[in-house]
Amino acid sequence: MADEQTLRDRLRTLPVFGDDLPPFDTDAVPDDPIDLFLEWLTAALDAEVSQPHTMVLATSDPSGHPSARTLLLKDVTPTVEDEPGAVWFAAMSDSPKGVELEANPRAALMFYWREQGRQVRISGPVFHGDREVSERDFLARHPAARATVLAGDQSAPMPPVDEVDRAVASAKEFISVNPNFVPETWRSYFVQPLMVEFWQAARHSEQKRLQYTSSPSGGWERRMLWP
Ligand SMILES: Cc1cc2nc3c(=O)[nH]c(=O)nc-3n(C[C@H](O)[C@H](O)[C@H](O)COP(=O)(O)O)c2cc1C
Repeated sequence: MADEQTLRDRLRTLPVFGDDLPPFDTDAVPDDPIDLFLEWLTAALDAEVSQPHTMVLATSDPSGHPSARTLLLKDVTPTVEDEPGAVWFAAMSDSPKGVELEANPRAALMFYWREQGRQVRISGPVFHGDREVSERDFLARHPAARATVLAGDQSAPMPPVDEVDRAVASAKEFISVNPNFVPETWRSYFVQPLMVEFWQAARHSEQKRLQYTSSPSGGWERRMLWP
């Protein structure tokens, strides 16, 4: 019994990062953080890190109560002339997160790529994408996934199993007859970043943290932060 590890010991001795940490030359970064985010995302995809497209979306209700959940990243659009860059996700507008975003359209996103020891934090206002983007996104989903969306209200208490089975079967039937149906509540959203922070782990705890903040006069300001 004496050598039995406590939970605290087990947590403390876990390895945190992968062995092959990429370098981060903070003197050679682009002016626009979306360009750097795209570089890091592409590097994560190329290195086949686990699920580089998963991110945490944090929202809060008007009284300031926060909530966070995992979502899939749908797209990143770079800054083009006067059109600011954007980070895209999709969700039901009548889900708890959708309701929070209607009342308080601001969010924080967080990506963590363990194998590369990288974290990216993004925050800013949230906007609705065009209806056409939402439709394309919904119709790209597998019919079974679309049926689940139609069968019940996301995050509502689940009814008994036979009721769920009936609702899903009926939604599948509806989709087979109406293959192009997209619910009004399926929405593409994008965050327009006002702050983007890049965190890179390194051997011997020499972490680097680079923060970009949108300047009121246009463009971006950059500074290093204590890790
Ligand atoms: C890996 C992963 C990906 C997910 N992707 C999405 C997504 O793209 N959109 C979504 O609405 N929910 C997604 N979810 C479910 C959400 O985390 C969450 O449970 C759900 O959206 C309800 O959140 P809400 O009650 O805060 O509205 C995902 C969950 C996981 C674990």
